[in-house]
Amino acid sequence: MSYLFPTYARWDVTIKEAKGSWVTDVNENKYLDFISGIAVCNLGHANEEVTKAVQEQLTKYWHMSNLFHQPIQEEVAKLLVEASDGDAVFFCNSGAEANEAAIKLARKHTGKTKIVTFLQSFHGRTFATMSATGQEKIQQGFGPMLETFQYLPYNDLAALDKLESDVAAIMLEVVQGEGGVVPAEKEFIQKVSETCEKIGALLIIDEVQTGVGRTGKPFGYQYYGIKPDIITSAKGLGSGLPVGAMIGQKSLIETFQAGSHGSTFGGNPIAMAAAKVTLDKIFDEKFLIEVEEKSNYLVGKLNSLVGKHPLVNDVRGKGLLVGIECKEQVSEIINQLRENKLLVLPAGSNVIRLLPPLTVSYEEIDIAVKTLEDVFSTVDYPVEAH
Ligand SMILES: Cc1ncc(COP(=O)(O)O)c(C=O)c1O
Repeated sequence: MSYLFPTYARWDVTIKEAKGSWVTDVNENKYLDFISGIAVCNLGHANEEVTKAVQEQLTKYWHMSNLFHQPIQEEVAKLLVEASDGDAVFFCNSGAEANEAAIKLARKHTGKTKIVTFLQSFHGRTFATMSATGQEKIQQGFGPMLETFQYLPYNDLAALDKLESDVAAIMLEVVQGEGGVVPAEKEFIQKVSETCEKIGALLIIDEVQTGVGRTGKPFGYQYYGIKPDIITSAKGLGSGLPVGAMIGQKSLIETFQAGSHGSTFGGNPIAMAAAKVTLDKIFDEKFLIEVEEKSNYLVGKLNSLVGKHPLVNDVRGKGLLVGIECKEQVSEIINQLRENKLLVLPAGSNVIRLLPPLTVSYEEIDIAVKTLEDVFSTVDYPVEAH
């Protein structure tokens, strides 16, 4: 019997230790981890420099109210601002909280209430972010949702034409992660940005999964030639310690005054110590070029599986957020991969999602692709008649 709410369909695996791209379970099975805590452990598990920084902070102090100045918050905020188009940061503890902050800021700043998001998006599990999420299965049983969200089809340029000036913000991911690893088309993102200008809405980019180097840029939106008003980040930011951040442009700063918004733990110094080292390492140009190179290597190898095995339909993504779309449901294939000691995730029902640590080696990529090939070759998928 478990003392936990069964909110996760847990696998029958208990990890006892993890280092780099590898995790070991209590039965001494060693797995290659292409999940990274769902895009969190971007520097691999137990990075030594992060560990050292956290240990040092633990010996100084663990927590201080945000009523005090905490220089380490300023240092992390500066790294986020310098690597993005934002000017100020609000720290919280998760992706959902970062999106909550963004939604509140957009409503207060514009004086409008409607927030436009997209079908198959994922923005979190709190009431506002669940309402923002364009997936019925996430909302089921919790209705009614907050009324002021409107969902449009993703990558659909024409749908944007219908929007009017009552919109406070358009919020979206540049690659829909949970929704099936679906990258946005460049034209679509540019039109979203132009539409925001036209109707006086703020542009919020949810970088919770795509940020912190995951796509090969500090933030994924930087592939698209746009300048968002608000960027939200979490997951990889603290290398496994809980940190969320909302980064906003200068024009928005005065909208949040003392008392407008807050978080007891937001900007906690232990989490900040982890974030500072994480960002120092990942926002380095050389590091990010390597992410792109590894991505090209991985995607190149995976592309060679398309056509080779009838099960594989498409390979897509950005950087080291990669999806393999299959012609059938992938849950059983994912179980088989795990039995073959490769940890991967689903995204939607028919996409295998690969999220290796950004520090993954070429040899580890080879092992992962070989395991995928081996498992695919055992799947009895009917070959289409020509
Ligand atoms: C794009 C996106 N936004 C928001 C969230 C919610 O983040 P958290 O689980 O930290 O609240 C997630 C989590 O998967 C996400 O992928």
